[in-house]
Amino acid sequence: MIPTEHCAKGSGQGKIILCGEHAVVYGYPAIALGLSCTTTVTLSAKSGPTELESGEAHATLATVIQQQLPAEGLRIAIESDVPIGKGMGSSAALAVALVRARASVQRTPLSEAQTFQQSLAIEKLFHGNPSGLDNTVAALGGVLRFEKGPPPTVTRLPMPNWSLVILDAGTAPATKEMVQQVALGFPSNSAVIEQIGALSEAIAANLEDQLFVASCMNENQALLVELGVSSEPLDTMVAWARNHGAVGAKLSGAGGGGMVIALSLQPQELLKEVEKAGISALHTRPWIPT
Ligand code: MEV
Repeated sequence: MIPTEHCAKGSGQGKIILCGEHAVVYGYPAIALGLSCTTTVTLSAKSGPTELESGEAHATLATVIQQQLPAEGLRIAIESDVPIGKGMGSSAALAVALVRARASVQRTPLSEAQTFQQSLAIEKLFHGNPSGLDNTVAALGGVLRFEKGPPPTVTRLPMPNWSLVILDAGTAPATKEMVQQVALGFPSNSAVIEQIGALSEAIAANLEDQLFVASCMNENQALLVELGVSSEPLDTMVAWARNHGAVGAKLSGAGGGGMVIALSLQPQELLKEVEKAGISALHTRPWIPT
């Protein structure tokens, strides 16, 4: 039971996947980057039923609140600048923020393993059977090599000196649907999935080599197209980024829509082109919360 005299906050980060989405579900490594966009959940005492005071109300969130928080006595405020429905880990950021706020209001510190398990339970409500990649990076930030568990193997990689331009190619369908689509093609698609895992391994060992990382991103994109998880808007945005100076570009997340990540040797030049074209974009580096 949560003592309602307390008020507490918890946060989780947004993310992009540099390499290895979908393959990670089949036990291969993936490389993910935590970003500075953040979701914060604030829990405070109130009389009467627990209520969502601010934040986008939707059916899954209502289930999460019902399952994870007491029915009485809490006001929940959710603030977020993690884009929703763009493959940037908004549900994982929310899951991590919620379990941290709950632990804080209960004054029970959470270990990394508890944060992982509790946020994964919430992610399952959103996505069915996630690998655990998104909630891990939402909790830890920085650059991570992740291999599914249990328990997962997580290695923090050095922060690279390059940045990424993240380009909006529209809304993505539910992650669950995209994961199911890949599962329908298994095991015929297993060679493609294995090659994606090998690219993640290669990137982990050569993260500072921008041109090498970029060429792995391009190979990863080609393999994701083969897996059937790209889409016409994603393909168009990848081509646009490459035609405007990106040395590497790929979709990020479950696919079907969402964001394209682009690596350029001259990101400011790419950003000028982005502005001229009126594309909604972010320019970012991996980030670790302090
Ligand atoms: C979604 O951000 C990443 C996927 O690999 C699914 C997962 O890891 O659970 C597509």
